[in-house]
Amino acid sequence: AAAEEEKLSQECKELLLSLPKEKGWRTLHLYKFQEFWCQPTEIQAIISSQRHFQASDTDVVLATVPKSGTTWLKALAFAVVNRRRFAVVSNSHPLLSSNPHDLVPFFEYKLYANGQIPDLSNLPQPRLFGTHIPFASLPNSIKKSDCRVVYICRNPFDTFISSWHYINKIRPGSQAPMLLDEAFEMYCKGIVGFGPFWEHMLGYWKESIERPHKVLFFKYEDMKEDITFQLKKLAEFLGIPFSLEEERSGVIEKIAKLCSFENLKELEVNKSGKSIKNFENKDLFRKGEVGDWVNYLSPTMVEQLTKLLEEKLSGSGLSF
Ligand code: A3P
Repeated sequence: AAAEEEKLSQECKELLLSLPKEKGWRTLHLYKFQEFWCQPTEIQAIISSQRHFQASDTDVVLATVPKSGTTWLKALAFAVVNRRRFAVVSNSHPLLSSNPHDLVPFFEYKLYANGQIPDLSNLPQPRLFGTHIPFASLPNSIKKSDCRVVYICRNPFDTFISSWHYINKIRPGSQAPMLLDEAFEMYCKGIVGFGPFWEHMLGYWKESIERPHKVLFFKYEDMKEDITFQLKKLAEFLGIPFSLEEERSGVIEKIAKLCSFENLKELEVNKSGKSIKNFENKDLFRKGEVGDWVNYLSPTMVEQLTKLLEEKLSGSGLSF
């Protein structure tokens, strides 16, 4: 991480000097940039995407809180949007040989990372992008154009546990594991990548209520409960509803199966490849369940996070 920070632009290094900072989960520090916490390399890439990304009306942006089902949403959206180009049952479907993060690139870890300004004009239409950027900080052209935004979040208890596991997997062996208590305290203060998580959720939640044609808001738990129903919502929102013929032939169920945790986890590319920075794809697939937090959080922690959610989400209509 230190070597990565060395490579930052002078402009970004100077900006960092003026930002509030706290000890980070993974990198040395997290910085508060445009009201959310993130890492220096992310800040540079986000600024670049804000300056250079030009949305077109047909684009689809998948936005998520980290560890809320990003990989899953990317797979589902890719399969739905491209179902006429790539038959869902085909042995050569791209999702069988590529990780979803390679098919739907992140602005901040891929397209605008390392000081790059990509030429995105030749990507197949509709273009699909992924990001963890909060709504308020999305590139202006995303907010102003007719492009669509699909958001997924997850109950914060599970998101926290998933993040804690992930951070400890990707931490270099030379660093001591991050303790659960320490991570929990930072999470509840909002000091976690792209946090505070409640601000992140509320930003997209409010937008999805004010502009339902612009932002579709999903919860991981709802997807787990009834994926067929949620896939129909997704396809309708994207302006490509499933036809009766498709419904009858079971296309929706086939997409759900193709993108399921069990299926993706067992693919060679997801067991051995690396798609986000230098991190192993296998670490993106842990348990894929709702409610695993009961195995980790103490009653005091549960009480603390429950109270925090009541306080932060009260009156918004959003609950878990
Ligand atoms: P757990 O750590 O609780 O298992 P992200 O993709 O945003 O990084 O989120 C990772 C979480 O989503 C992990 O949760 C992971 O196991 C789960 N996940 C990954 N692929 C999934 C899929 N196809 N269906 C459901 N959950 C999935």
